[in-house]
Amino acid sequence: MAAKRAPRRLSGCHTIEDLRDLCRRRLPAAPFGYIDGGAEEEVTLERNRQAFAEYAFRPRTLVDVSRVDLSTEILGQPLALPLILAPCGFARLADPRGGETAAARAAHRAGTVSVLSSMASSTIEQVAEASDGPLWYQLYVWRDRGILRDFIDRARESGYRALCLTVDVPVFGQRERDLRTGMTIPPSLTLHTLMNVARHPRWIWEYLSGPRITVANVAKYAPGGRTGVSALGSYVNQQFDPTLNWRDLEWMLAEWNGPFAVKGVLRPEDAVRAVETGVSAIVVSNHGGRQLDHSPAPIQVLREIAAAVDGRADIVLDGGVRRGTDVAKALALGARACMIGRPYLYGLGAGGERGAERAIEILRSETERALALLGCPSARELDPSYLQPNSR
Ligand code: GLV
Repeated sequence: MAAKRAPRRLSGCHTIEDLRDLCRRRLPAAPFGYIDGGAEEEVTLERNRQAFAEYAFRPRTLVDVSRVDLSTEILGQPLALPLILAPCGFARLADPRGGETAAARAAHRAGTVSVLSSMASSTIEQVAEASDGPLWYQLYVWRDRGILRDFIDRARESGYRALCLTVDVPVFGQRERDLRTGMTIPPSLTLHTLMNVARHPRWIWEYLSGPRITVANVAKYAPGGRTGVSALGSYVNQQFDPTLNWRDLEWMLAEWNGPFAVKGVLRPEDAVRAVETGVSAIVVSNHGGRQLDHSPAPIQVLREIAAAVDGRADIVLDGGVRRGTDVAKALALGARACMIGRPYLYGLGAGGERGAERAIEILRSETERALALLGCPSARELDPSYLQPNSR
């Protein structure tokens, strides 16, 4: 049996891994496994992390780094730091009282943007009301196109600045941890999960005293305003449209007529086609290793995609970012910013809104330090000359 360790508090969390540790202790197994896990053998989940080690730095010396500028611009929007909070389903599994609204506030305070997921457990309107900061809305495409049109209209009316279409979920990736823990939406307290849940009284209290955790933005379409208990994979496979294709993208671009990102691109020719179709940002991503197992890590295909896009759209890297040095490597290989998903969810699980803020602050200060030590005073000046393949 593992030795009993003193409970770690937020102030004792110095790295994203520390936040993950605290989150794991505070959450029951099912919500933690949903956040932490990947598809099938989790080869890609692991690769997303490991691939950053394939590059070593080539720092410059004798450069004045008394000021390091992390600011950037994505989709015409200035950001104080090159980090965007990725769309993550059911953020209230990590933090039943806040979730998406807490994440949006934490992003705003840090001077950046958060992207609300179509699978969010808070509504488009709740999040817009909770934060004055810039927001993007992420689209999944329900079979019922009325839902899609409703999402687009509501996002526009609530002042969301950009849409982000996720293209790597034609069907749901098999999350085997979720099958084992009996993870359902909404979370259901079966005999199997009850024993585990009982060891996390604080989470269960917050969960039971808050609004039900469900796919908040489609709840009104379900009979009686409620969705039934469903394994997430069955829900997605029944509801999402696997015919989604380039013609639909053209339709959505025309419908929105504003800044638009496509998330889940891993091939240069797809990135080029998306740009030629009118997309203004490409998010290089394998969905955090949660969809097709054995896909490459985003950092491994980033340079090729950035070269093919050749400045015609903003490039964002999403996947495996846990350190400021990861952010610096992604920027050097052509990204303007990185999306982070699990890091802020671990933060939410470890300590709600303050935990999400802590996650952003850890990555901000690590990135600033990485740039100073690289002899590069501005995030916009990083280029491939700061890296070399790591021949270990
Ligand atoms: C939802 O987008 C998920 O990856 O679980």
